[in-house]
Amino acid sequence: MDLSVVILAAGQGSRMRSKLPKVLHKLAHKPLLTHVIDVAEQLSAQDIHVVYGHGGEAVRDALADRNVSCVKQEEQLGTGHAVAQAVPNLVDDHVVLVLYGDVPLTTKETLQQLLEKVSGTSMGLLTAALPNPHGYGRIVRNSEQVVQCITEEKDATEAIRKITEVNTGILAVSGRKLKEWLGRLKNNNAQGEYYLTDIIAMAVSDGIEVKTSQASAVEEVEGINNRSQLARIERYYQRQQAEQLMTAGVTLKDPARFDLRGSVKTGTDVVIDINVILEGDVVLGNDVEIGANCVITNATIGDGSIILPNSVIENAVMGQECTIGPFARIRPETNLAAKVKIGNFVEIKKAEVGEGSKISHLSYVGDSIIGKDVNIGAGTITCNYDGANKHITEIGDGAFIGSDSQLVAPVKIGAGATIGAGSTITNDAPAGALTLTRTKQRSIESWTRPQKKK
Ligand code: UD1
Ligand code: CA
Repeated sequence: MDLSVVILAAGQGSRMRSKLPKVLHKLAHKPLLTHVIDVAEQLSAQDIHVVYGHGGEAVRDALADRNVSCVKQEEQLGTGHAVAQAVPNLVDDHVVLVLYGDVPLTTKETLQQLLEKVSGTSMGLLTAALPNPHGYGRIVRNSEQVVQCITEEKDATEAIRKITEVNTGILAVSGRKLKEWLGRLKNNNAQGEYYLTDIIAMAVSDGIEVKTSQASAVEEVEGINNRSQLARIERYYQRQQAEQLMTAGVTLKDPARFDLRGSVKTGTDVVIDINVILEGDVVLGNDVEIGANCVITNATIGDGSIILPNSVIENAVMGQECTIGPFARIRPETNLAAKVKIGNFVEIKKAEVGEGSKISHLSYVGDSIIGKDVNIGAGTITCNYDGANKHITEIGDGAFIGSDSQLVAPVKIGAGATIGAGSTITNDAPAGALTLTRTKQRSIESWTRPQKKK
């Protein structure tokens, strides 16, 4: 059966107290709505329709590069009315799955189970057993436990309010039936809204069986209405990711203090200390160790490399057995070969660094091509920017740059060259030679120190 997905995202989410529409708030660095669209894509939906609301242009704009159709619900007249906005785009013989833009964590497996409930004579409804069902629509069953209808809390009698099986809102039904039932919805209820939930009683009277299924965790069907719920769901999600990594053989010193905001591929025996944040697409080779408080974004780290505490790495690739930090900053387009050592308070930007080279202390290296076994002394600066353009510094294999040197680019340091400490190098330095720019040292024997005035 072909599948269409309708995602309701017209709510403003006023309880977020934000200028951003609720569904664009982020969970693990990804908008809530994107989590929902991603799972719809995992289900191989033929088409995905996002219903956005008044002021929701930001939602539509955020989806410009996604393969979804956006439909505007001008006025929020209820969940049934919201789904009806997508109806002109729905194919009769597709199964339609209704999801919510503010319910980000429903899994593919849970939704597949729900979709299996749909046939020519049945539909699927995702329900949840909640000890405190307050606020939710209740699932009303007859004495044979057959679903009869959903009653919203505001329309419910005392007896119905005692029911703890609730409507998650997520359901799956044939497109043809959905269209027919939506056309018959009335808004004569406590909230004066067109309730999607009223289609359940219509299904029953049309002889369509309502088959229910449940998610494996309540967090999967939890909607986010405020920042407190967002934070709680974030922690739940992070904990799940941490558990998956530990199952895959990664040591997390404290799974409660680990955040993955993207994806990570890990080799064997990776060790991650506390307060590490991985973002985007990260690859950690075998035996990689990440120290406390590191932020690593879109990076590949080779086998046996060690990232010491408080280092920040972004859009970089490094080979095997490198040592980075503590307090190092590796900026975009940096490519480190194997066995490179980057020490404390070193900033590297857009640089190639050859195997075995060392930049151990307090340096800035940008727009540079550095050979093998180069030693860059403490406090070295590549002066890559003339105020208008960036220029390249090239340093040959085995060169030794004395401490506190400035290499004014464009400039080339030959292989095996030595630069005397404290030099400002503005012309190319030949291979093998010592180059230095330094005034002669002198001593003044007769000099006396100034005395403090009486
Ligand atoms: C709805 C269900 C209720 C269920 C609960 C689960 C109905 C009538 N009730 O209640 O049975 O237990 O969700 O959370 O369906 N929306 C629109 N356009 C609208 C109205 C709503 O897009 O005109 C969207 C909202 O942005 C929200 C979702 O639909 O994401 C649910 O709407 P909401 O008003 O919160 O429904 P509830 O009253 O909570
Ligand atoms: Ca709600």
